Amino acid sequence: MSAIRMDGKMVSAKVRGSILAEVEALKAQGVRPGLAVILVGDDPASKVYVRNKERACEECGIYSEKYALPAETTQEEVLALIDKLNKDPNISGILCQMPVPKHIDADAIIDAIDVTKDVDAFHPVNVGKIMIGDFDFLPCTPAGVMELLDEYGIDPKGKECVVIGRSNIVGKPQAMLLLHRHGTVTICHSRTANLKEVCARADILVAAVGKAKFVTADMVKEGAAVIDVGMNRDENGKLCGDVCFDEVNEKAGYLTPVPGGVGPMTITMLMKNTLKAAKLQHGIAD
Ligand code: GUN
Repeated sequence: MSAIRMDGKMVSAKVRGSILAEVEALKAQGVRPGLAVILVGDDPASKVYVRNKERACEECGIYSEKYALPAETTQEEVLALIDKLNKDPNISGILCQMPVPKHIDADAIIDAIDVTKDVDAFHPVNVGKIMIGDFDFLPCTPAGVMELLDEYGIDPKGKECVVIGRSNIVGKPQAMLLLHRHGTVTICHSRTANLKEVCARADILVAAVGKAKFVTADMVKEGAAVIDVGMNRDENGKLCGDVCFDEVNEKAGYLTPVPGGVGPMTITMLMKNTLKAAKLQHGIAD
């Protein structure tokens, strides 16, 4: 039997509809949420992500500004732009698309963004708030995964949750969000011994490895919920996730497709954070 497909596109459309309604209500009170997206250089994947973020803003009634800067832009120039956006009342959220060119220190960029406008939740203050469970913003990809789990009635409480990958953007915060929801959480990575056995224990398996078709059926427990955060190209240049979809589909209980699973949810959570930022900045309760 095939797994139930967790449809991120469908769930996103639903959530974006409710964000639009809230944004319209805010606008009626004179508050207009706005997002500034900074893109340095011309990485093709980043350009696609930025375009999708602009489209999502339109869909949600959120004002947006894009700053597409040439690859040779200096760090000082990016920092000066962030300083200007930090002070701009039309801008509720600021995001600098990663990766940035090598001559720019990504940490310095993240540190410069006002904590109340940090809609990626990458700033150390916001990372710390997530750790203690008292946060304003959740990082978009892990938050999108949690929203998908909720939508399909999958409660992490008491379950074996395994996250493959330990990045600051996905793996680490994902583990924390599952822990907040009372999951028993293991983080695996490239040095994990018995990776296959550890993954095969999981009731909820989140793959954030960045390697095409890394998760095979022998790593998956019968009936597990498998969430694929990967965005890779296969040998034919086709977009694919970290999970071998066809074989895992026969064993898992729930599975996210790539594309159309976690990807749209990530951008939807960015919209949610931008709305939240506007409310915070205007002292409006959630
Ligand atoms: N590059 C890949 N994912 C992300 C993300 O979530 N935010 C930003 N700013 N850059 C990224």
